Amino acid sequence: MESKQAVRQRTIAAIPAVVTLLCLCWVLDGCSTPSRVPAATEVSLPTEALREGSILFAGKCSGCHPGGRSGLGPSIINKPLPSALIRFQTRAGLGVMPAFKNHALTDEQVKNIATYLVYLRKEG
Ligand code: HEC
Repeated sequence: MESKQAVRQRTIAAIPAVVTLLCLCWVLDGCSTPSRVPAATEVSLPTEALREGSILFAGKCSGCHPGGRSGLGPSIINKPLPSALIRFQTRAGLGVMPAFKNHALTDEQVKNIATYLVYLRKEG
């Protein structure tokens, strides 16, 4: 039969190992989590136009271009599409992508979405 003293000493000796293991799990877990996922209501966006763009994008576009990346549609932030082309594509539509006419999005809103996408490409 082990003395209580011996059991306690062994328990205490195990603490650093347990703490190290927990830290390791925490670090590994932290590394596997994507560091920056653009959120729909990103409060850190610097301008009102970008904030509006991000909300509109989340509502109208991200179903097919999640986070500006590919889903049903292709990625739209991994190539140097100029803002004018993004606006044209949004108004005209192509293939599976619907055309967003004036009643769906105002010129201002289309512009803000394009501004947001160009910003995502640079910052994201
Ligand atoms: C129903 C799904 C769908 C929605 C909603 C949608 N798209 Fe698309 N989008 C597509 C598909 C599919 C393509 C590829 C079209 C093709 O090449 O046939 C595309 C292509 C594009 C392209 C051109 C990409 C390239 O590589 O040339 C841009 C820019 C774009 N979409 C922007 C938008 C914006 C902005 C919105 C929101 C206002 C939006 N899309 C909403 C499906 C969608």
